[in-house]
Amino acid sequence: MIDGQTQMVGLIGWPVEHSLSPVMHNAAFDALGLNWRYVPLPVPPGQVEAAVRGLAALGFRGANVTVPHKQTVRQMLNSIGPSARHLGAVNTILIVRGEDGSTRLGGYNTDDTGFAGALRMGGYEPEEGRRAVVVGAGGAARAVVFGLLWSGSGEIVVLNRTPQRAEALVSDLRGFSDQGFRLHTLPLTVETLVESARSADLLVNATSVGLWPQSERSIWPESVSLPAHLTVFDLVYRPLETRLLRQARESGANAINGLGMLVRQGAVAFEMWTGEAAPVDVMRAACERALGRV
Ligand code: ATR
Repeated sequence: MIDGQTQMVGLIGWPVEHSLSPVMHNAAFDALGLNWRYVPLPVPPGQVEAAVRGLAALGFRGANVTVPHKQTVRQMLNSIGPSARHLGAVNTILIVRGEDGSTRLGGYNTDDTGFAGALRMGGYEPEEGRRAVVVGAGGAARAVVFGLLWSGSGEIVVLNRTPQRAEALVSDLRGFSDQGFRLHTLPLTVETLVESARSADLLVNATSVGLWPQSERSIWPESVSLPAHLTVFDLVYRPLETRLLRQARESGANAINGLGMLVRQGAVAFEMWTGEAAPVDVMRAACERALGRV
């Protein structure tokens, strides 16, 4: 029930109607008996400044931010956390209102810790001496590489269809870690992928390949079986088992789907806003139910 005490958070993006975040967070609020609600907030390009000012004025406690506003929103905030600064993108806003009604807005990025948390939950410990192959060089891949760097992973190879984007990613992130020298790039081809994966411990798909409705697609060729010693993490969670993850399962590799990252990044934001420990199992179950309906 919404009443005079209800605290509001929401998701700023364009479009937002397919997001699982409202279902996930509202299930968490219900499970903890918190009088909070999470609403989708469709904000067209060009309107983000007005939207953020409006959120603060309306007493919202915070928001998530998604495509296409993750970069532009930074200019409207009073402070930017370290991950958001290094990644150049904000996915969570925390709004603190003083007694005099003034507001301070902080911008954070919870994708890197979300990824690292999901990876560990999936049974993979990123550590010295282990080699990761990350396919993709967009915002999602940046969060993955950053999460791996800060978790103490060994060598990281970034493969991308457009090699310049992988090079830009590596040169941007190299400066932020004394482990930067362990970052390399290769153009994405079947040969470079198969060859890199053979000597790796972890393969991450941070591209949109395999995303519904093009669920029959995979970055991995059908003619080669995936090395069984690999952990394969697909950031795509629609469908829950992508073709890549099916290939991984069929070859005996450890397969981790993208739902864990969605839930973990949401859990970090939830804890920031409410100060309560996030009920991650409830959040995951709510997402799985919602995905079952698509
Ligand atoms: P996000 O913020 O979710 O990472 P993005 O910035 O659009 O989204 O990045 C999408 C990633 O998927 C990119 O690495 C893109 O490769 P390019 O940089 O070459 O565009 C990758 N990608 C998308 N479609 C692909 C395809 N058919 N084959 C290989 N890579 C693809």
